[in-house]
Amino acid sequence: MISNTERFQPNITPVAGRLAGKVAFITGGAKGIGKAIALRFAQEGADVVITDKDESAGLETAEEIRSLGRKCLSATADVADRAATEEIAGRTVREFGGIDILVNNAGIIVFGSLMQCRLEDWDRMLAVDLTGSFHCTQVIGQHMIQRGQGGRMIHIGSTAALLPTAEQGAYCVAKAGLRMVSMMAAMELAPHGITSNLLCPQGAVTDINRELLSDPAIMAKLEGNIPAGRMAKTEEIAAAAAFLASGEAAYITGAELVHDGGATIRSLWWR
Ligand SMILES: NC(=O)c1ccc[n+]([C@@H]2O[C@H](COP(=O)([O-])OP(=O)(O)OC[C@H]3O[C@@H](n4cnc5c(N)ncnc54)[C@H](O)[C@@H]3O)[C@@H](O)[C@H]2O)c1
Repeated sequence: MISNTERFQPNITPVAGRLAGKVAFITGGAKGIGKAIALRFAQEGADVVITDKDESAGLETAEEIRSLGRKCLSATADVADRAATEEIAGRTVREFGGIDILVNNAGIIVFGSLMQCRLEDWDRMLAVDLTGSFHCTQVIGQHMIQRGQGGRMIHIGSTAALLPTAEQGAYCVAKAGLRMVSMMAAMELAPHGITSNLLCPQGAVTDINRELLSDPAIMAKLEGNIPAGRMAKTEEIAAAAAFLASGEAAYITGAELVHDGGATIRSLWWR
């Protein structure tokens, strides 16, 4: 069990200056994991563009980022809207000089089995969680190639991208698709010095699951399945994203960073 009494306590202290001079483009950056990543990148010296469909949360997060002394643009858009992505990416290049880091983070989930999934929920999850990330990968990938200064892509997958997960039918399929987007981008972009990796959280409490996890019985069952005995903090996921965005991860591409306290490998561990 990981506890704060151990010598190796969770360390979420930003590495000062590690992302200095970089511009990060983070979808769904207004709240939750995307917000934690935006703040972390700013604390490490990056200027940040956040896109989100929640305008007021986006403006609040942008103020927090500016208070850290970094430049920030908050743009309101649906990530599934290709034209909006092109417009915001173009504006970012004009106003910030270019894009160094893309974080495909915006995502939704409609809980339920694959067998019972309504077509409209299937379409929406694929549009946001998969096609939205494809738009950004393609538009910003082409910009990074043209610019010729390398880059980083971090796609926020999920352990649901790797294994079938109860009550997450269409979501698993969308995230599994994103896993292949990440690997395809890794192969196509490696000659341009651009890395592409999938970061796979198992879970942190955010708006996406807050209602479900407010049931103590569900929370206890979930945490009981995590060898580390607890869910992650969004700041811990952001720390992993910052590593993948940094020079330290220059040789890591096409990989999955599974961030799950051991949950994924537990399946046959019956004791
Ligand atoms: N929280 C978890 O346990 C968990 C686990 C694994 C993966 N993830 C993934 O992490 C990512 C972030 O999720 P979160 O937990 O922070 O959830 P969240 O709901 O707190 O944040 C998602 C953000 O994306 C924005 N967003 C949603 N749909 C959008 C759209 N169509 N266009 C633009 N913005 C949109 C929301 O407004 C919100 O700011 C998602 O891709 C999610 O699938 C989360």
